[in-house]
Amino acid sequence: MAMAAKSLAPVLISTVFCCYAFLTPSHASSDDFPQCLSASIPGPLVHAQSSPSFTSVLVSSIRNARFSTPTTVRPRWVITPTNASHVQAAVVCGHRHGVRLRVRSGGHDYEGLSYSSKSPEVFAVVDLSNLRGVRIDKQNSTAWVDSGATLGELYYAVAQASNQLAFPAGLCPTIGVGGHFSGGGFGTLLRKYGLAADNVLNALVVDARGRILDKDAMGPDVFWAIRGGGGESFGIVLSWQVRLVAVPPTVTAFRIPVTVDEGAVDAVTRWQEVAPALPDDLFIRVLLQNQTATFEALYLGTCDVLLPVMRCRFRELGMRMNRTHCQEMTWIQSVPYFSLSSGATVEDILNRTTATGTYTKMTSDYVRQAIRRDAWENIFAGWLARPDAGIMILDPYGAAIGGVPEPATPFPHRAGVLYNIQYVNLWFAGGDGGAAQMKWVRDLYAFMEPYVSSSPREAYFNYRDLDLGENVVMGNVSSYEAGKVWGEKYFRDNYKRLALAKNEIDPDDFFRNEQSIPPLGPGK
Ligand SMILES: Cc1cc2nc3c(=O)[nH]c(=O)nc-3n(C[C@H](O)[C@H](O)[C@H](O)COP(=O)(O)OP(=O)(O)OC[C@H]3O[C@@H](n4cnc5c(N)ncnc54)[C@H](O)[C@@H]3O)c2cc1C
Ligand SMILES: *[C@@H]1O[C@H](CO)[C@@H](O)[C@H](O)[C@H]1NC(C)=O
Ligand SMILES: *[C@@H]1O[C@H](CO)[C@@H](O)[C@H](O)[C@H]1NC(C)=O
Ligand SMILES: *[C@@H]1O[C@H](CO)[C@@H](O)[C@H](O)[C@H]1NC(C)=O
Ligand SMILES: *[C@@H]1O[C@H](CO)[C@@H](O)[C@H](O)[C@H]1NC(C)=O
Ligand SMILES: *[C@@H]1O[C@H](CO)[C@@H](O)[C@H](O)[C@H]1NC(C)=O
Ligand SMILES: *[C@@H]1O[C@H](CO)[C@@H](O)[C@H](O)[C@H]1NC(C)=O
Repeated sequence: MAMAAKSLAPVLISTVFCCYAFLTPSHASSDDFPQCLSASIPGPLVHAQSSPSFTSVLVSSIRNARFSTPTTVRPRWVITPTNASHVQAAVVCGHRHGVRLRVRSGGHDYEGLSYSSKSPEVFAVVDLSNLRGVRIDKQNSTAWVDSGATLGELYYAVAQASNQLAFPAGLCPTIGVGGHFSGGGFGTLLRKYGLAADNVLNALVVDARGRILDKDAMGPDVFWAIRGGGGESFGIVLSWQVRLVAVPPTVTAFRIPVTVDEGAVDAVTRWQEVAPALPDDLFIRVLLQNQTATFEALYLGTCDVLLPVMRCRFRELGMRMNRTHCQEMTWIQSVPYFSLSSGATVEDILNRTTATGTYTKMTSDYVRQAIRRDAWENIFAGWLARPDAGIMILDPYGAAIGGVPEPATPFPHRAGVLYNIQYVNLWFAGGDGGAAQMKWVRDLYAFMEPYVSSSPREAYFNYRDLDLGENVVMGNVSSYEAGKVWGEKYFRDNYKRLALAKNEIDPDDFFRNEQSIPPLGPGK
């Protein structure tokens, strides 16, 4: 709570400065951008392409080596603010000198849009990794978390405050809060508590004029939009106030591989209807790789209570289970259990260094009607048996995530969704440069069409895929009509309301990338 009061004080002063600066007509070129920055940002926090620190700062959170090649369109500058006022100055100077900004929190964007561009343009990256405080209010079960924090840092701080508090968000601890909350964010607590974005109570956003706005100042439409409508579109979110959630002191995790020979096809077929209907304190996902379905679960309770539930509700798996499959632990211990290699400790979730050199291609689907057994047989015998095959990850919905009405937040994949599919393929440099692995993802996506949601075929924003479509700029703004092709897949009917909110806060489309929300004037 202290944070809001502290950082809102300097805001009023800078609002005056920023609005004035914004209104000053200027024909200066991008060459004057660094000069403008230098008035408000210490030099060592601005890394130009020519500076020796540039490459190490740029690659510090790149997760996908596809966007770190000699042909990648890189930023001209990376700015690493240590104070909210630096972020404001970057926006004001960018606006004044025609330099667009890409915001980076954890750098996990699947298409690298937080640090690279698909077309030649002069831009700067605002990297928020130095703005990463977490302030827990234990009495009120709330926290303020800055966008540059990782999920691991947030989880760790929450667990330090209490072993019966948690936060519902994604699995991988190096994910940045900024991008993740902006696009929804889900993990093992999604059936009990919904998305990360569903648990946001307030936020501080730097808008295209350089003002810092809280929930009241930004207004209900923009506050609605930033909670799931995707990063980059509405401004730079500095900080989020979130509701922390209750977990028991002991939770139970398990990981059970079932091969095709042992009945994986039947187990997955049955899982589709069982998993989304289970009690909300039981989350069971499935990873399909090669000839194995691996069931991974988190239960908010003890093994003794879990085993009878499994036997009664999900016999295909439950009848194989006994106490030896259960791993009882605290919630925070379940974070490395699901995301890091075995033997990792709770402290390891604080490690922000990510392994480099992995190339990835991902995309997603939503399933509203269970897929027939014979299709699963095909998937195992054909797609997953190929030498260049990747992984399919199935995350069950239902319960809390399905209970939110579709217009209540931008994230539309609610009632009626059984589960999310993520298609993943990974490779390392060399060979055909990933052509076979990319083709596997694209061909499987085409094959799946009859089995998944349609009109529109839904996709999860945070599993960004530019194959779904890219913005077309008309005049000086992204086209609302052209954006429908990807926007309605991510947001269904909420796409239009997002475009109206965008028009309220950034009608000139200063904050823009290949899949940012285009502005739509009222009455259009
Ligand atoms: C290894 C891995 C595991 C993952 N696991 C999960 C998972 O379990 N559950 C899940 O839901 N998702 C998961 N994701 C997807 C992840 O949620 C998204 O990639 C998310 O957008 C990453 O946020 P980031 O801050 O790390 O990324 P960034 O690349 O920094 O940002 C992503 C987008 O948001 C914008 N943005 C970033 N910060 C801000 C800000 N402060 N204000 C405004 N816009 C901003 C960026 O410009 C970019 O467009 C995973 C991704 C990876 C790579
Ligand atoms: C940012 O700078 C202002 C003005 O110098 C100061 O009051 C504030 O505490 C700083 N904030 C942080 C997070 O350092
Ligand atoms: C286009 O928009 C950018 C950002 O809002 C602005 O800097 C630029 O001057 C605009 N260009 C024209 C031709 O209007
Ligand atoms: C808890 O929240 C209440 C109401 O929002 C507020 O008045 C109170 O100051 C908060 N408590 C703390 C310790 O911040
Ligand atoms: C797939 O599994 C089969 C048998 O279980 C094994 O022989 C084969 O090497 C595996 N393929 C890959 C790519 O791991
Ligand atoms: C528990 O299950 C494992 C794996 O299926 C099996 O090896 C073990 O014998 C079982 N133990 C008991 C006590 O049933
Ligand atoms: C952090 O993670 C990286 C990448 O996985 C690893 O190389 C490094 O050793 C880890 N650092 C620590 C201190 O564990």
